[in-house]
Amino acid sequence: MAKPAARFVCQNCGAVTSKWQGRCETCGEWNTIVEEQTEIRAPGPAGKSAGGRKIDFVSLKGRAAPPPRTESGMAELDRVLGGGFVPGSVVLVGGDPGIGKSTILLQAAARIANAGKRVLYISGEEAIDQVRLRALRLGLTDSPLGLAAATSLRDIAASLEEEKDATLVIIDSIQTVWLDSLDAAPGTVSQVRACAAELTRLAKTRGFAVVLVGHVTKEGTLAGPRVLEHMVDATLYFEGDRGHQFRILRAVKNRFGATDEIGVFEMTDRGLMEVANPSALFLAERRGNISGSAVFAGMEGTRPVLVEIQVLLSPSPSGGSPRRQVVGWDSGRLAMLMAVLESRCRVSLGQNDVYLNIAGGLRVNEPAADLAVAAALVSAATDRPTDPEMVFFGEIGLSGEIRQVAQTDTRLREAAKLGFAAATLPRRVARPGRTASAHDGLKLTEIGHLADLVAPLAAAAAASAKPKSSEGGTKDTPRRKAPETAAEA
Ligand code: TYD
Ligand code: MG
Repeated sequence: MAKPAARFVCQNCGAVTSKWQGRCETCGEWNTIVEEQTEIRAPGPAGKSAGGRKIDFVSLKGRAAPPPRTESGMAELDRVLGGGFVPGSVVLVGGDPGIGKSTILLQAAARIANAGKRVLYISGEEAIDQVRLRALRLGLTDSPLGLAAATSLRDIAASLEEEKDATLVIIDSIQTVWLDSLDAAPGTVSQVRACAAELTRLAKTRGFAVVLVGHVTKEGTLAGPRVLEHMVDATLYFEGDRGHQFRILRAVKNRFGATDEIGVFEMTDRGLMEVANPSALFLAERRGNISGSAVFAGMEGTRPVLVEIQVLLSPSPSGGSPRRQVVGWDSGRLAMLMAVLESRCRVSLGQNDVYLNIAGGLRVNEPAADLAVAAALVSAATDRPTDPEMVFFGEIGLSGEIRQVAQTDTRLREAAKLGFAAATLPRRVARPGRTASAHDGLKLTEIGHLADLVAPLAAAAAASAKPKSSEGGTKDTPRRKAPETAAEA
């Protein structure tokens, strides 16, 4: 028999405790623990297989056909999904409120409906009129998709059971739907999990793909999508800075595709536009001839992306410890690089505040960005611009050695395609059977140690500082110095 039991569930990470606490011991968040009533089903008679059906065990051999796909026609979205929506699968789309989840899903839904498929959009957050207004703005009002505003999972499930040929069902958002048999508020971990489980069951039995929209909340007032990640087939995060027009759709889990793919979109007044050539976009506002800037030839999944890395050094007010402000990169990695520059190449940055920014709002996770960051740091420290026609990539080790990274050819090809003329990269070891590939006229500078990068810039800085009187002096350490003041003199 079912008996109600009280339990306390962290709304941030889903950890369960037997008593209320101010702070979750698992994730460390404060005020996230909420009491939830749940039905606990008594286990069946021990050792008895009452009502169970025998399952068949098969061998690993056998042909697995690739899953059929429903393409949305938005290439950026389809690639992140691994080729389109898979029937019977559940995709979680997470992201900050207002980032554009409803917009991109309405656009994709309309396209699939236009292709003659049955698509249902169930909005729990917005009224019908609000969704219609968005459709009007996006120019999608003629699309034959089915729209409903509903939050009761009982109603939703009953309606979906009736659907014979639905291809795609969008639930916007999972935090607004609720099951009346659960004594917990909508948006709590119990509700979100139970509703997602029921929708997953429907997707598998009925064969339509389900998209669950989930808001990421820091406050812990609503259960975050994290508690659902293990249940769904794919988790996509829609990221971006609301101050920027770029939006990046990133797969963090995908049972039917690669997880390092990104899709790049631009938010315009007519919805999200696909960005087929993100490098050109990220470099669009680059100003060539300033110090502290270097172009990184990066990879996001299977595609190369060129981004500008910007560093600004400013003298730290005496007394306090210098600031290290990083946007779009790992601050621990920056600290490591600065230590390597300081102890292996005698580039001193210690007294300055350091600001590092990945232009355009992209987040870079690759260690291959080390060399570009180092180039930007050295360029800022010596006040000499890097070659504006040059890209950089390579991982840096603690002794200052430059390490190989994957996909060298792809990176170089993208740089050449975008009109760059030179690249600084790790020294390549000749391997038997490896053919030298063409690099479209790029001038390659292969280096084995960070000192090889620092020396030319430092020498150029020293040369241009020479005409100046000997006062101050650059010592043998390249220092943030002032060729401009020399010019003024
Ligand atoms: P929305 O899709 O509602 O975000 P989410 O579902 O993730 O909460 O997007 C809301 C923002 O997008 C809002 O600030 C307005 C902006 N927007 C545009 O700039 N252009 C458009 O065509 C649309 C529909 C929205
Ligand atoms: Mg929305």
